[in-house]
Amino acid sequence: MFRTHTCGELRIENIGQQITLAGWVQTIRKFGAITFIDLRDRYGITQLLFGEELNKQLEENPLGREYVLQVNGIVNERSNKNKNIPTGDIEITVSSFTILNKSEVPPFTIQDDTDGGDDLRMKFRYLDLRRNAVKRNIELRYAVNRSARNYLHENNFIDIETPFLIKSTPEGARDFVVPSRMNEGEFYALPQSPQTFKQLLMVSGYDRYFQIVKCFRDEDLRADRQPEFTQIDCEMSFVEQEDILNMFEGLVKRIFKDVKGINYSDAVERITWEEAMWQYGNDKPDTRFGMKICNLVFDKNMFPSKENFFDAEMFDIPPFGGKGASVLAIAVPNCSEYTRKQIDELTEWVKRPQVGMKGLVFIKCNTDGTFKSSIDKFYTPEQLKAIAEAANTKAGDLILILAGAEERTRKAISELRLEMGKRLGLRNENEFKLLWVLDFPLFEYAEEENRWVARHHPFTSPKPSDIDTMINNSPVIENAAEYLKHPYANIKANAYDMVLNGNEIGGGSIRIYQKALQQKMFEALGMNEEEQQHKFGFLLGAFEYGAPPHGGIAFGFDRLCAILGGSESIRDFIAFPKNNSGRDVMLDAPSSIDEKQLNELQIKLDLK
Ligand code: AMO
Repeated sequence: MFRTHTCGELRIENIGQQITLAGWVQTIRKFGAITFIDLRDRYGITQLLFGEELNKQLEENPLGREYVLQVNGIVNERSNKNKNIPTGDIEITVSSFTILNKSEVPPFTIQDDTDGGDDLRMKFRYLDLRRNAVKRNIELRYAVNRSARNYLHENNFIDIETPFLIKSTPEGARDFVVPSRMNEGEFYALPQSPQTFKQLLMVSGYDRYFQIVKCFRDEDLRADRQPEFTQIDCEMSFVEQEDILNMFEGLVKRIFKDVKGINYSDAVERITWEEAMWQYGNDKPDTRFGMKICNLVFDKNMFPSKENFFDAEMFDIPPFGGKGASVLAIAVPNCSEYTRKQIDELTEWVKRPQVGMKGLVFIKCNTDGTFKSSIDKFYTPEQLKAIAEAANTKAGDLILILAGAEERTRKAISELRLEMGKRLGLRNENEFKLLWVLDFPLFEYAEEENRWVARHHPFTSPKPSDIDTMINNSPVIENAAEYLKHPYANIKANAYDMVLNGNEIGGGSIRIYQKALQQKMFEALGMNEEEQQHKFGFLLGAFEYGAPPHGGIAFGFDRLCAILGGSESIRDFIAFPKNNSGRDVMLDAPSSIDEKQLNELQIKLDLK
């Protein structure tokens, strides 16, 4: 037997027992004739004491950090107890030891606060995974996985695998493609999600499907995106939106309970996409704090356009994405005492290219009822008061105002709101706030191509009340400048996103299940009949054989784990992640392949 116990197991009750442990050498401390070694395995750390006799053997067979060691010995009470670790009351007086394997000096310390930089730790990921901090994340991931499986199993879902070598499924990103040796000149695509397969399974009658599954998307990477990531992918038949919302609210609440011990008993708040955009400038708002955005509309009598600091065109609120300009404000609570220096710093913050504003207007609503602002020379105190009232402020607030082109300004104020929330400590990582965002637009306008694209994906159904608008109108956009007036711009989708603390953790929709409506959808996206057959003939075919009404959702499993673990980066929760350029620096992938492989695939490279 290699070991009788793990390194995290022994306690005061085990005193006097003869035991065997195996693990890695974490630290070696010599005190004259005796040596202490901390031995580590997945379960914890146990202190080993090598007395005089064994010390001689140690000198002949010196140990180093990360050596794999097996020891026999007796559990003794420690004189100098360590309250920080569960095994801190005991130590092992070693009677014999075997070096199971040696180790090079690791390139960074295997400790919580390691000295290794990101790149180094990615290159030696197998060592990084030994660290407690990383191990905790991997364990949390497994706990989320188990909890989700249990819930779904208890609710009659069945796990069905779907293929990875498929034909392209459009989810808005580029496909990763795989050449086929047996079918010259042809390629498979890796699934961006199992979307069409899960719909086909509904046609087949498996009315509750799930899969915890890898998805592949060739898109620009960020902290919350990886080229291969995992979804908790689900689909149900004979359901309406309400059924889905209830079922999957239940799933997330169950995960909270099982993994974090949190009883999330409140109903999950719901807002429409439009409300989210107006109030938070963002379709995945962080609702742990308020500070809602206020659209300032200037009263033409109060602010005659000539003397207005803002442009005359800002008198009206333009629609989202419209060409007009907006004046948007947030009232930051209890910050009217911000210093000039603090405001200057915020101004620089909004001017950074990532935010892209030209400047920042502020109004301090002092607690004595007076106002102080960066636009004092343009406005009377009455006018400032009118703006403050329009922005729903109270004494002590600092009003921050951004003005400019609607879309950019809304995005910028949304970021400023999040930044102020962060600075004021309103984004507490131990607080979890769920939100459903509903009623997304069905289409998005693609300016370069002057056509509609699906906002979620082409299988999402319009709201029943919008089906006629879709069927009875041509998708052609005659006047690109006025695309917002096209009837398609107002069609709402039967789609929903689940948001957790300002992160989109899941998204789904009620699907189209009638062939004619699906064809109309493809046509609206600019696909002629031939293309529809070529790309989606299988789905249109299946819809001819009794497709049931159905809908579903997919959760970003990595994202959910990261948020539950209090991290912004999903990489920390993936055993072998890619870096920001999509590289696996440990494997050094992607890499070139040899001539023979290329020849078999009949591929000739013509690199520029
Ligand atoms: P969607 O594209 O919204 O929907 O994806 C579902 C969820 O997956 C997560 N996600 C990602 N996580 C990490 N890295 C990425 N590159 C990445 N892309 C997406 C997000 C997102 O909410 N088939 C549909 C689902 C459906 O309609 O049922 C789909 O894939 O958390």
